[in-house]
Amino acid sequence: MKKSNNKIEQKNEKKQRKLDEFVYFPLYSALMAGVISVVFFCTCFSGEFKFVGMPVFVTWIALTCLFLIVFCCSRIFVQTTNKSITVLGMVCLITVGLSVILMRYARFTLAIFTLSSLLVVLILSKKEAFISVFLNTIVFLALIYIYNTYALEIPDYTMLLPLAIKAIASILLIILYKPTFNRLKVIAISLLSGLFTLVLALFINIFAFKFGFIDALMDAVWMFVAEVGVAILSLILSPIFEWVFRLETSMQFLEYISFDQPLLKELAEKAPGTFNHSIQVGNLAERCAYAIGENVNVAKAAAYFHDIGKMQSPEFFTENQTDNYNPHDDLIFETSVKIITRHTELGYETLLKHKFPRIICNVAHEHHGDSSLNYFYIKAQNITEGDVDSSDYCYPGPRPTTRISAIIMIADSVEAASRSMNMSDRKGLINLVDNIIKEKRESGQFDDCDITMKQLAIIRDTLVESLVGIAHTRISYPTRK
Ligand SMILES: [Fe+2]
Ligand SMILES: [Fe+2]
Repeated sequence: MKKSNNKIEQKNEKKQRKLDEFVYFPLYSALMAGVISVVFFCTCFSGEFKFVGMPVFVTWIALTCLFLIVFCCSRIFVQTTNKSITVLGMVCLITVGLSVILMRYARFTLAIFTLSSLLVVLILSKKEAFISVFLNTIVFLALIYIYNTYALEIPDYTMLLPLAIKAIASILLIILYKPTFNRLKVIAISLLSGLFTLVLALFINIFAFKFGFIDALMDAVWMFVAEVGVAILSLILSPIFEWVFRLETSMQFLEYISFDQPLLKELAEKAPGTFNHSIQVGNLAERCAYAIGENVNVAKAAAYFHDIGKMQSPEFFTENQTDNYNPHDDLIFETSVKIITRHTELGYETLLKHKFPRIICNVAHEHHGDSSLNYFYIKAQNITEGDVDSSDYCYPGPRPTTRISAIIMIADSVEAASRSMNMSDRKGLINLVDNIIKEKRESGQFDDCDITMKQLAIIRDTLVESLVGIAHTRISYPTRK
Protein backbone atom coordinates (compact mmCIF):
# COMPACT_ATOMS: atom_id res chain seq x y z
CA MET A 1 0.00 0.00 0.00
CA LYS A 2 2.79 2.33 1.04
CA LYS A 3 4.73 1.44 -2.10
CA SER A 4 1.78 2.13 -4.43
CA ASN A 5 1.21 5.49 -2.71
CA ASN A 6 4.87 6.33 -3.24
CA LYS A 7 4.59 5.44 -6.91
CA ILE A 8 1.54 7.68 -7.36
CA GLU A 9 3.39 10.50 -5.58
CA GLN A 10 6.43 10.02 -7.84
CA LYS A 11 4.21 10.05 -10.94
CA ASN A 12 2.49 13.25 -9.82
CA GLU A 13 5.85 14.81 -9.10
CA LYS A 14 7.10 13.89 -12.58
CA LYS A 15 3.94 15.34 -14.17
CA GLN A 16 4.36 18.57 -12.20
CA ARG A 17 8.04 18.78 -13.21
CA LYS A 18 7.14 18.32 -16.88
CA LEU A 19 4.48 21.00 -16.60
CA ASP A 20 6.98 23.32 -14.92
CA GLU A 21 9.45 22.80 -17.74
CA PHE A 22 6.79 23.36 -20.36
CA VAL A 23 5.89 26.74 -18.89
CA TYR A 24 9.42 27.50 -17.83
CA PHE A 25 11.30 27.31 -21.14
CA PRO A 26 9.21 29.67 -23.33
CA LEU A 27 8.76 32.19 -20.54
CA TYR A 28 12.42 32.22 -19.62
CA SER A 29 13.58 32.36 -23.23
CA ALA A 30 11.23 35.21 -24.07
CA LEU A 31 12.37 37.17 -21.02
CA MET A 32 16.06 36.70 -21.79
CA ALA A 33 15.58 37.55 -25.45
CA GLY A 34 13.67 40.68 -24.45
CA VAL A 35 16.43 41.93 -22.12
CA ILE A 36 19.19 41.27 -24.68
CA SER A 37 17.17 42.95 -27.47
CA VAL A 38 16.62 46.08 -25.37
CA VAL A 39 20.31 46.27 -24.26
CA PHE A 40 21.43 45.68 -27.83
CA PHE A 41 19.19 48.33 -29.36
CA CYS A 42 19.65 50.91 -26.61
CA THR A 43 23.43 50.72 -27.02
CA CYS A 44 23.94 50.06 -30.73
CA PHE A 45 21.17 52.10 -32.31
CA SER A 46 20.68 55.01 -29.95
CA GLY A 47 19.95 58.22 -31.78
CA GLU A 48 20.99 57.17 -35.25
CA PHE A 49 18.28 54.63 -36.00
CA LYS A 50 14.73 55.86 -36.45
CA PHE A 51 12.56 52.80 -37.07
CA VAL A 52 13.46 50.79 -34.01
CA GLY A 53 10.24 48.78 -33.51
CA MET A 54 10.70 46.22 -36.29
CA PRO A 55 14.36 45.26 -35.59
CA VAL A 56 13.65 44.96 -31.86
CA PHE A 57 10.76 42.67 -32.63
CA VAL A 58 12.80 40.60 -35.12
CA THR A 59 15.69 40.27 -32.64
CA TRP A 60 13.34 39.32 -29.84
CA ILE A 61 11.59 36.61 -31.88
CA ALA A 62 14.91 35.27 -33.27
CA LEU A 63 16.57 35.12 -29.84
CA THR A 64 13.50 33.55 -28.19
CA CYS A 65 13.53 30.76 -30.82
CA LEU A 66 17.29 30.27 -30.40
CA PHE A 67 17.09 30.09 -26.60
CA LEU A 68 14.16 27.68 -26.80
CA ILE A 69 16.04 25.35 -29.14
CA VAL A 70 19.27 25.44 -27.09
CA PHE A 71 17.52 24.98 -23.73
CA CYS A 72 15.30 22.14 -24.98
CA CYS A 73 18.25 20.39 -26.67
CA SER A 74 20.46 20.74 -23.59
CA ARG A 75 17.61 19.43 -21.46
CA ILE A 76 17.04 16.39 -23.68
CA PHE A 77 20.56 15.50 -24.82
CA VAL A 78 22.79 16.68 -21.96
CA GLN A 79 20.16 16.28 -19.20
CA THR A 80 20.80 19.60 -17.50
CA THR A 81 18.66 20.50 -14.52
CA ASN A 82 16.30 23.47 -14.15
CA LYS A 83 18.80 25.17 -11.87
CA SER A 84 21.63 24.80 -14.41
CA ILE A 85 19.40 26.16 -17.17
CA THR A 86 18.60 29.23 -15.06
CA VAL A 87 22.28 29.77 -14.23
CA LEU A 88 23.26 29.27 -17.89
CA GLY A 89 20.64 31.79 -18.97
CA MET A 90 21.70 34.35 -16.38
CA VAL A 91 25.39 33.99 -17.26
CA CYS A 92 24.59 34.32 -20.97
CA LEU A 93 22.53 37.43 -20.24
CA ILE A 94 25.34 39.06 -18.25
CA THR A 95 27.98 38.11 -20.84
CA VAL A 96 26.02 39.36 -23.84
CA GLY A 97 24.78 42.48 -22.04
CA LEU A 98 28.22 43.56 -20.79
CA SER A 99 29.87 42.66 -24.12
CA VAL A 100 27.39 44.74 -26.13
CA ILE A 101 27.95 47.74 -23.82
CA LEU A 102 31.75 47.36 -24.00
CA MET A 103 31.70 46.89 -27.78
CA ARG A 104 29.56 50.00 -28.25
CA TYR A 105 31.24 52.38 -25.82
CA ALA A 106 34.82 51.05 -25.68
CA ARG A 107 36.26 48.69 -28.30
CA PHE A 108 34.84 45.84 -30.29
CA THR A 109 37.71 43.55 -29.29
CA LEU A 110 36.87 44.07 -25.59
CA ALA A 111 33.86 41.74 -25.83
CA ILE A 112 34.01 39.50 -22.75
CA PHE A 113 32.74 36.50 -24.66
CA THR A 114 34.77 33.98 -22.59
CA LEU A 115 33.13 35.11 -19.32
CA SER A 116 30.25 32.68 -19.73
CA SER A 117 32.45 29.62 -20.33
CA LEU A 118 34.77 30.37 -17.40
CA LEU A 119 31.96 31.26 -15.01
CA VAL A 120 29.88 28.22 -16.00
CA VAL A 121 32.82 25.82 -15.73
CA LEU A 122 33.54 27.25 -12.24
CA ILE A 123 30.01 27.04 -10.88
CA LEU A 124 28.49 24.19 -12.91
CA SER A 125 30.48 21.75 -15.04
CA LYS A 126 32.39 21.36 -18.31
CA LYS A 127 29.28 19.89 -19.95
CA GLU A 128 27.23 23.03 -19.27
CA ALA A 129 30.21 25.27 -20.13
CA PHE A 130 30.28 23.82 -23.65
CA ILE A 131 26.54 24.56 -23.97
CA SER A 132 27.25 28.15 -22.91
CA VAL A 133 29.85 28.53 -25.69
CA PHE A 134 27.33 27.25 -28.21
CA LEU A 135 24.58 29.48 -26.81
CA ASN A 136 26.76 32.60 -26.82
CA THR A 137 28.08 31.95 -30.31
CA ILE A 138 24.62 31.75 -31.84
CA VAL A 139 23.40 34.80 -29.89
CA PHE A 140 26.40 36.88 -31.05
CA LEU A 141 25.99 35.61 -34.63
CA ALA A 142 22.32 36.62 -34.56
CA LEU A 143 23.16 40.06 -33.12
CA ILE A 144 25.93 40.68 -35.69
CA TYR A 145 23.59 39.66 -38.50
CA ILE A 146 20.79 41.96 -37.25
CA TYR A 147 23.26 44.82 -36.70
CA ASN A 148 24.58 44.47 -40.25
CA THR A 149 21.10 44.17 -41.75
CA TYR A 150 19.42 47.05 -39.95
CA ALA A 151 22.15 49.45 -38.88
CA LEU A 152 24.87 49.43 -41.52
CA GLU A 153 24.52 50.55 -45.11
CA ILE A 154 27.51 48.43 -46.15
CA PRO A 155 27.59 45.22 -44.13
CA ASP A 156 30.86 44.65 -42.27
CA TYR A 157 31.39 41.07 -41.23
CA THR A 158 35.01 41.50 -40.08
CA MET A 159 33.58 41.65 -36.56
CA LEU A 160 33.10 37.89 -36.83
CA LEU A 161 36.85 37.44 -36.38
CA PRO A 162 37.16 38.46 -32.70
CA LEU A 163 34.06 36.37 -32.08
CA ALA A 164 35.70 33.29 -33.64
CA ILE A 165 38.97 33.83 -31.70
CA LYS A 166 37.07 34.22 -28.42
CA ALA A 167 34.95 31.14 -29.10
CA ILE A 168 38.15 29.09 -29.56
CA ALA A 169 39.65 30.67 -26.41
CA SER A 170 36.48 29.69 -24.50
CA ILE A 171 36.86 26.06 -25.56
CA LEU A 172 40.55 26.20 -24.60
CA LEU A 173 39.62 27.51 -21.14
CA ILE A 174 37.11 24.72 -20.58
CA ILE A 175 39.60 22.05 -21.65
CA LEU A 176 42.38 23.48 -19.45
CA TYR A 177 40.20 23.81 -16.34
CA LYS A 178 40.33 21.08 -13.70
CA PRO A 179 37.93 20.88 -10.72
CA THR A 180 40.91 20.80 -8.32
CA PHE A 181 42.03 24.29 -9.41
CA ASN A 182 42.19 27.08 -6.85
CA ARG A 183 41.65 30.78 -7.66
CA LEU A 184 45.29 31.34 -8.60
CA LYS A 185 45.23 28.56 -11.16
CA VAL A 186 41.98 29.92 -12.61
CA ILE A 187 43.72 33.27 -13.16
CA ALA A 188 46.68 31.42 -14.70
CA ILE A 189 44.53 29.61 -17.30
CA SER A 190 42.70 32.87 -18.08
CA LEU A 191 46.04 34.58 -18.75
CA LEU A 192 47.04 31.64 -20.92
CA SER A 193 43.87 31.93 -22.98
CA GLY A 194 44.50 35.71 -23.09
CA LEU A 195 47.97 35.10 -24.54
CA PHE A 196 46.43 32.73 -27.06
CA THR A 197 43.92 35.38 -28.23
CA LEU A 198 46.73 37.99 -28.34
CA VAL A 199 48.99 35.88 -30.57
CA LEU A 200 46.15 34.67 -32.83
CA ALA A 201 44.69 38.19 -33.26
CA LEU A 202 48.14 39.68 -33.99
CA PHE A 203 48.88 37.00 -36.55
CA ILE A 204 45.50 37.31 -38.35
CA ASN A 205 45.50 41.14 -38.27
CA ILE A 206 48.97 41.34 -39.82
CA PHE A 207 48.85 38.50 -42.33
CA ALA A 208 45.15 38.30 -43.27
CA PHE A 209 43.94 41.92 -42.91
CA LYS A 210 47.33 43.54 -43.67
CA PHE A 211 47.05 45.89 -40.63
CA GLY A 212 50.04 47.99 -39.61
CA PHE A 213 51.99 46.43 -36.71
CA ILE A 214 50.92 49.06 -34.13
CA ASP A 215 47.20 48.78 -35.03
CA ALA A 216 47.39 45.00 -35.03
CA LEU A 217 49.19 45.01 -31.67
CA MET A 218 46.66 47.42 -30.13
CA ASP A 219 43.78 45.15 -31.16
CA ALA A 220 45.56 42.09 -29.82
CA VAL A 221 46.44 43.80 -26.51
CA TRP A 222 42.78 44.77 -25.99
CA MET A 223 41.84 41.15 -26.58
CA PHE A 224 44.29 40.19 -23.80
CA VAL A 225 42.91 42.90 -21.50
CA ALA A 226 39.41 41.49 -22.04
CA GLU A 227 40.63 38.08 -20.87
CA VAL A 228 42.18 39.56 -17.72
CA GLY A 229 38.84 41.28 -17.07
CA VAL A 230 37.07 37.95 -17.58
CA ALA A 231 39.27 36.27 -14.93
CA ILE A 232 38.57 39.03 -12.37
CA LEU A 233 34.85 39.19 -13.15
CA SER A 234 34.36 35.43 -12.95
CA LEU A 235 36.08 35.27 -9.56
CA ILE A 236 33.85 38.10 -8.31
CA LEU A 237 30.65 36.67 -9.79
CA SER A 238 31.13 32.97 -8.94
CA PRO A 239 30.63 33.37 -5.14
CA ILE A 240 27.57 35.55 -5.84
CA PHE A 241 26.06 32.81 -8.05
CA GLU A 242 26.98 30.18 -5.44
CA TRP A 243 25.14 32.18 -2.80
CA VAL A 244 22.07 33.16 -4.85
CA PHE A 245 21.47 29.72 -6.40
CA ARG A 246 22.86 27.71 -3.44
CA LEU A 247 25.32 26.02 -5.76
CA GLU A 248 27.90 23.58 -4.52
CA THR A 249 31.00 24.24 -6.60
CA SER A 250 34.33 22.46 -6.79
CA MET A 251 36.23 25.48 -5.50
CA GLN A 252 33.95 25.74 -2.48
CA PHE A 253 34.81 22.15 -1.51
CA LEU A 254 38.56 22.86 -1.56
CA GLU A 255 38.28 24.62 1.81
CA TYR A 256 36.65 21.51 3.32
CA ILE A 257 39.55 19.25 2.39
CA SER A 258 42.10 21.53 4.02
CA PHE A 259 43.52 20.23 7.29
CA ASP A 260 42.98 23.72 8.70
CA GLN A 261 39.24 23.02 8.77
CA PRO A 262 38.34 23.41 12.51
CA LEU A 263 35.98 20.41 12.60
CA LEU A 264 38.63 18.19 10.97
CA LYS A 265 41.21 19.40 13.50
CA GLU A 266 38.80 18.55 16.31
CA LEU A 267 38.28 15.06 14.83
CA ALA A 268 42.06 14.49 14.65
CA GLU A 269 42.35 15.49 18.31
CA LYS A 270 39.38 13.61 19.77
CA ALA A 271 39.30 10.55 17.50
CA PRO A 272 42.68 10.06 15.77
CA GLY A 273 41.74 6.57 14.60
CA THR A 274 38.57 7.82 12.90
CA PHE A 275 40.52 10.75 11.45
CA ASN A 276 43.07 8.41 9.81
CA HIS A 277 40.29 6.13 8.55
CA SER A 278 38.47 9.15 7.05
CA ILE A 279 41.61 10.32 5.23
CA GLN A 280 42.12 6.82 3.77
CA VAL A 281 38.46 6.68 2.70
CA GLY A 282 38.95 10.16 1.17
CA ASN A 283 41.86 8.94 -0.97
CA LEU A 284 39.92 5.90 -2.17
CA ALA A 285 36.72 7.89 -2.80
CA GLU A 286 38.63 10.54 -4.73
CA ARG A 287 39.94 7.93 -7.19
CA CYS A 288 36.55 6.25 -7.55
CA ALA A 289 34.83 9.61 -8.17
CA TYR A 290 37.40 10.46 -10.85
CA ALA A 291 36.93 7.05 -12.48
CA ILE A 292 33.16 7.43 -12.88
CA GLY A 293 33.20 11.16 -13.70
CA GLU A 294 31.94 12.51 -10.37
CA ASN A 295 33.35 15.61 -8.68
CA VAL A 296 36.57 14.54 -6.91
CA ASN A 297 36.60 17.41 -4.42
CA VAL A 298 33.05 16.69 -3.31
CA ALA A 299 33.84 12.98 -2.85
CA LYS A 300 37.00 13.71 -0.86
CA ALA A 301 35.33 16.33 1.37
CA ALA A 302 32.32 14.08 2.00
CA ALA A 303 34.66 11.20 2.96
CA TYR A 304 36.65 13.39 5.38
CA PHE A 305 33.49 14.18 7.36
CA HIS A 306 31.47 10.97 6.92
CA ASP A 307 32.22 9.68 10.43
CA ILE A 308 32.26 13.04 12.20
CA GLY A 309 29.41 11.73 14.40
CA LYS A 310 31.88 9.36 16.09
CA MET A 311 33.61 12.36 17.68
CA GLN A 312 31.11 12.45 20.58
CA SER A 313 32.00 8.96 21.87
CA PRO A 314 35.16 7.90 20.02
CA GLU A 315 36.09 5.12 22.47
CA PHE A 316 33.14 3.02 21.30
CA PHE A 317 34.64 2.62 17.81
CA THR A 318 37.42 0.04 17.29
CA GLU A 319 39.73 2.33 15.32
CA ASN A 320 40.09 4.57 18.41
CA GLN A 321 40.64 1.80 20.97
CA THR A 322 44.36 1.91 21.76
CA ASP A 323 44.55 -0.46 24.74
CA ASN A 324 42.83 -3.82 25.02
CA TYR A 325 39.79 -2.33 26.73
CA ASN A 326 36.55 -2.43 24.74
CA PRO A 327 33.66 -0.56 26.45
CA HIS A 328 31.17 -2.76 24.57
CA ASP A 329 32.25 -5.68 26.77
CA ASP A 330 30.37 -4.00 29.66
CA LEU A 331 27.20 -3.32 27.65
CA ILE A 332 24.30 -5.36 26.34
CA PHE A 333 24.16 -5.73 22.53
CA GLU A 334 21.13 -3.44 22.09
CA THR A 335 22.90 -0.55 23.83
CA SER A 336 26.09 -1.08 21.80
CA VAL A 337 24.08 -1.11 18.56
CA LYS A 338 22.29 2.09 19.57
CA ILE A 339 25.58 3.87 20.33
CA ILE A 340 27.20 2.76 17.07
CA THR A 341 24.27 3.36 14.72
CA ARG A 342 23.63 6.80 16.20
CA HIS A 343 26.87 8.17 14.69
CA THR A 344 25.20 8.74 11.30
CA GLU A 345 22.44 10.88 12.79
CA LEU A 346 24.89 12.73 15.08
CA GLY A 347 27.23 13.43 12.16
CA TYR A 348 24.37 14.76 10.06
CA GLU A 349 23.22 17.07 12.86
CA THR A 350 26.76 18.31 13.59
CA LEU A 351 27.43 19.13 9.93
CA LEU A 352 24.05 20.85 9.53
CA LYS A 353 24.80 22.91 12.65
CA HIS A 354 28.16 23.98 11.15
CA LYS A 355 26.38 24.89 7.88
CA PHE A 356 28.22 22.38 5.70
CA PRO A 357 27.08 21.87 2.09
CA ARG A 358 24.02 19.66 1.86
CA ILE A 359 25.82 16.83 0.05
CA ILE A 360 28.44 16.44 2.82
CA CYS A 361 25.65 16.33 5.46
CA ASN A 362 23.71 13.76 3.41
CA VAL A 363 26.74 11.49 2.99
CA ALA A 364 27.28 11.45 6.78
CA HIS A 365 23.62 10.48 7.13
CA GLU A 366 23.48 7.90 4.34
CA HIS A 367 26.88 6.18 4.32
CA HIS A 368 25.63 3.04 6.13
CA GLY A 369 22.15 3.11 4.57
CA ASP A 370 19.93 0.68 6.47
CA SER A 371 22.50 -2.12 6.48
CA SER A 372 22.78 -4.39 9.47
CA LEU A 373 25.51 -4.42 12.09
CA ASN A 374 26.54 -8.01 11.39
CA TYR A 375 29.04 -8.27 14.24
CA PHE A 376 26.43 -7.78 16.96
CA TYR A 377 23.60 -9.39 14.97
CA ILE A 378 25.50 -12.68 14.54
CA LYS A 379 26.65 -12.60 18.18
CA ALA A 380 23.04 -12.08 19.34
CA GLN A 381 21.83 -14.87 17.03
CA ASN A 382 24.38 -17.27 18.46
CA ILE A 383 23.29 -16.55 22.03
CA THR A 384 19.54 -16.64 21.43
CA GLU A 385 19.63 -19.45 18.86
CA GLY A 386 18.37 -17.23 16.08
CA ASP A 387 15.51 -15.56 17.97
CA VAL A 388 16.51 -11.97 17.09
CA ASP A 389 14.69 -9.25 15.20
CA SER A 390 17.14 -8.21 12.44
CA SER A 391 15.67 -4.68 12.29
CA ASP A 392 16.98 -4.04 15.83
CA TYR A 393 20.51 -4.50 14.49
CA CYS A 394 20.28 -2.16 11.49
CA TYR A 395 21.32 1.42 10.84
CA PRO A 396 18.27 3.69 10.61
CA GLY A 397 19.04 4.86 7.04
CA PRO A 398 18.41 6.64 4.71
CA ARG A 399 20.05 4.70 1.90
CA PRO A 400 22.49 6.55 -0.40
CA THR A 401 20.65 8.95 -2.68
CA THR A 402 23.65 10.08 -4.75
CA ARG A 403 26.55 8.35 -6.49
CA ILE A 404 28.96 10.13 -4.13
CA SER A 405 27.14 8.60 -1.14
CA ALA A 406 27.33 5.17 -2.77
CA ILE A 407 31.08 5.61 -3.39
CA ILE A 408 31.69 6.57 0.26
CA MET A 409 29.57 3.63 1.44
CA ILE A 410 31.70 1.17 -0.57
CA ALA A 411 35.07 2.86 0.12
CA ASP A 412 34.25 3.03 3.85
CA SER A 413 33.51 -0.71 4.10
CA VAL A 414 36.46 -1.65 1.87
CA GLU A 415 38.90 0.48 3.87
CA ALA A 416 37.75 -1.03 7.18
CA ALA A 417 37.79 -4.61 5.87
CA SER A 418 41.12 -4.33 4.03
CA ARG A 419 42.96 -3.39 7.23
CA SER A 420 43.06 -7.03 8.30
CA MET A 421 44.05 -8.25 4.82
CA ASN A 422 47.31 -9.02 3.08
CA MET A 423 47.28 -6.12 0.62
CA SER A 424 49.56 -7.77 -1.92
CA ASP A 425 47.06 -10.61 -2.39
CA ARG A 426 45.35 -9.25 -5.49
CA LYS A 427 42.89 -12.11 -5.84
CA GLY A 428 41.88 -11.80 -2.20
CA LEU A 429 41.34 -8.03 -2.62
CA ILE A 430 39.17 -8.55 -5.71
CA ASN A 431 37.06 -11.07 -3.77
CA LEU A 432 36.79 -8.73 -0.80
CA VAL A 433 35.67 -5.69 -2.83
CA ASP A 434 33.37 -7.84 -4.98
CA ASN A 435 31.67 -9.35 -1.93
CA ILE A 436 31.19 -5.97 -0.27
CA ILE A 437 29.61 -4.44 -3.39
CA LYS A 438 27.48 -7.55 -3.99
CA GLU A 439 26.22 -7.59 -0.41
CA LYS A 440 25.33 -3.88 -0.49
CA ARG A 441 23.61 -4.23 -3.87
CA GLU A 442 21.60 -7.30 -2.87
CA SER A 443 20.43 -5.66 0.35
CA GLY A 444 19.06 -2.78 -1.74
CA GLN A 445 21.49 -0.10 -0.52
CA PHE A 446 21.85 1.38 -4.04
CA ASP A 447 18.12 1.32 -4.86
CA ASP A 448 17.64 5.04 -4.14
CA CYS A 449 20.57 6.32 -6.23
CA ASP A 450 21.21 6.12 -9.95
CA ILE A 451 24.51 4.24 -9.89
CA THR A 452 24.83 1.69 -12.71
CA MET A 453 26.32 -1.82 -12.75
CA LYS A 454 29.03 -0.52 -15.06
CA GLN A 455 29.96 2.21 -12.58
CA LEU A 456 30.04 -0.33 -9.75
CA ALA A 457 32.45 -2.45 -11.80
CA ILE A 458 34.66 0.61 -12.40
CA ILE A 459 34.59 1.41 -8.67
CA ARG A 460 35.58 -2.20 -7.86
CA ASP A 461 38.56 -2.12 -10.25
CA THR A 462 39.65 1.32 -9.01
CA LEU A 463 39.54 0.22 -5.37
CA VAL A 464 41.55 -2.93 -6.07
CA GLU A 465 44.18 -0.96 -8.01
CA SER A 466 44.38 1.69 -5.25
CA LEU A 467 44.79 -0.89 -2.49
CA VAL A 468 47.45 -2.78 -4.45
CA GLY A 469 49.20 0.58 -4.99
CA ILE A 470 49.12 1.28 -1.24
CA ALA A 471 50.69 -2.16 -0.62
CA HIS A 472 53.54 -1.38 -3.05
CA THR A 473 54.38 1.87 -1.26
CA ARG A 474 54.81 0.04 2.06
CA ILE A 475 58.45 -1.01 1.80
CA SER A 476 59.80 -3.01 4.75
CA TYR A 477 63.11 -1.55 5.96
CA PRO A 478 65.94 -3.90 7.02
CA THR A 479 66.90 -3.82 10.71
CA ARG A 480 70.46 -2.79 11.66
CA LYS A 481 72.54 -5.66 13.09
FE1 LIG B 1 30.39 5.31 9.63
FE1 LIG C 1 33.72 5.12 8.18
